[in-house]
Amino acid sequence: MLIRMFYVSEISPACTELDVQVLLGQAQVRNRRLDVTGMLAKSDGHFCQVLEGRPDAVDQVMDRVRRDRRHTRIRVLLEQPCDRRLFEGWAMGLVIRDDMAPEMRQLHVAGAIAGVAMNEVIRRLMAQPGA
Ligand SMILES: Cc1cc2nc3c(=O)[nH]c(=O)nc-3n(C[C@H](O)[C@H](O)[C@H](O)COP(=O)(O)O)c2cc1C
Repeated sequence: MLIRMFYVSEISPACTELDVQVLLGQAQVRNRRLDVTGMLAKSDGHFCQVLEGRPDAVDQVMDRVRRDRRHTRIRVLLEQPCDRRLFEGWAMGLVIRDDMAPEMRQLHVAGAIAGVAMNEVIRRLMAQPGA
């Protein structure tokens, strides 16, 4: 059984570009070990992350994510069983989506984007800008 977890959080003011690169490397090592895949989108104010894997593995990763001071106010937007991974082959990817900053802010405040299914929100956010 696989689950997909999707959350949005606020980036801490002290979190630098270097911090993001470091956490990405740490995430990739641990996720590979746990067979967790996913994608991290970053705007100038928020992170959005998709994590996919066995429920116990995703829980372990989320425990670490929740403790990490590089972001705050984590809001889970989706947690559901899934048949297949969206990010097969990605221990953790990064997309810079400053162009989606308003959408990410809205997700954090309202928990949704009106009229758009959450899996479609994921598809739009986790693409390379302009793709
Ligand atoms: C936005 C964000 C995404 C993260 N994603 C992952 C992840 O996918 N996998 C993981 O193991 N940890 C993830 N973390 C947690 C950090 O990588 C973790 O705290 C780091 O590995 C530090 O580990 P330490 O406790 O050994 O210092 C994330 C943290 C943040 C802020």
